[in-house]
Amino acid sequence: MIKKGIILAGGLGTRMSPLTKAVNKQLLPIYDKPLIYYPLSILMLAKIKDILIIVNKGQLNQFKKLIPSGKNLGIKISYAEQKSPRGLPDAFLVGEKFIGKDNVALILGDNFFYGQNLTKKLQECSKLSSGAKILLHSVSKPEAYGVAKLNNKKKIIKIIEKPKKFISDYAVTGLYFFDNQVVKIAKTLKPSKRGEIEIIDLLNKYKKRNKLYADFIGRGGAWLDTGSIEDFYKTTSFVAAIESRQGLKIACIEEIAYQYGWITKKHLIQSTKFYGNCDYSKYLKKLIFRD
Ligand code: G1P
Repeated sequence: MIKKGIILAGGLGTRMSPLTKAVNKQLLPIYDKPLIYYPLSILMLAKIKDILIIVNKGQLNQFKKLIPSGKNLGIKISYAEQKSPRGLPDAFLVGEKFIGKDNVALILGDNFFYGQNLTKKLQECSKLSSGAKILLHSVSKPEAYGVAKLNNKKKIIKIIEKPKKFISDYAVTGLYFFDNQVVKIAKTLKPSKRGEIEIIDLLNKYKKRNKLYADFIGRGGAWLDTGSIEDFYKTTSFVAAIESRQGLKIACIEEIAYQYGWITKKHLIQSTKFYGNCDYSKYLKKLIFRD
């Protein structure tokens, strides 16, 4: 069972400069809420309640203003600062103490997931007791991601970071589930040509041990990018279209906590005071008076 999760919200965000010069990318808006709410909601949907958010050096205060402790969500949020972006597996080195003897999930702070069966899938993934599990999703430009080639039994036979030659359409999404070995293995990784330790190298170590498993988001689900400004706005449009049509919010972290019974109406009222007079608070008020 995975009870701990890490959100990697570091990175320099240079591709989105000047927007990210003074503000961490994960605090920029995707429609009506900061980007960080989306990966946080994914860990919560997986019923992970002990969460470490890794941020860049000097950015802790920005985040704490928005998510002070997790108390109002019925979860525990801790923070750690990363001196410099050393690559994704650095999350397991920075987070070594937090992880302790437990298994852990990692989600990249800029990844967006949505889909009907997603919650069920997430809860299945968090049952992992040994090995590593990744979620794959078909994309039109696999060369921009880590990519997995599968055999006819849907077993991973090869996994490559940003392959120049086509190997498959299946991108490795930024949500990973690991057993406790991950800390030990992350320590053995050497920097790649781009000077960072790579998540694909880590996954390949699990593959060598025959312990790398894949699941699929499927065509009814969405995995969107927020890497570039254009992708950022595409994701915003997606959220806007769904929320305005349904009147239901995607990634309303208080709603998830309330539905799971982690918090009561009292907490929701506190949250409306915390946010002040805005549409987001109006939505929370609707939840309070609904039942
Ligand atoms: C990183 C990983 C890549 C993965 C992607 C998902 O890429 O290295 O394997 O597919 O995240 O968002 P990067 O964002 O560093 O280019």
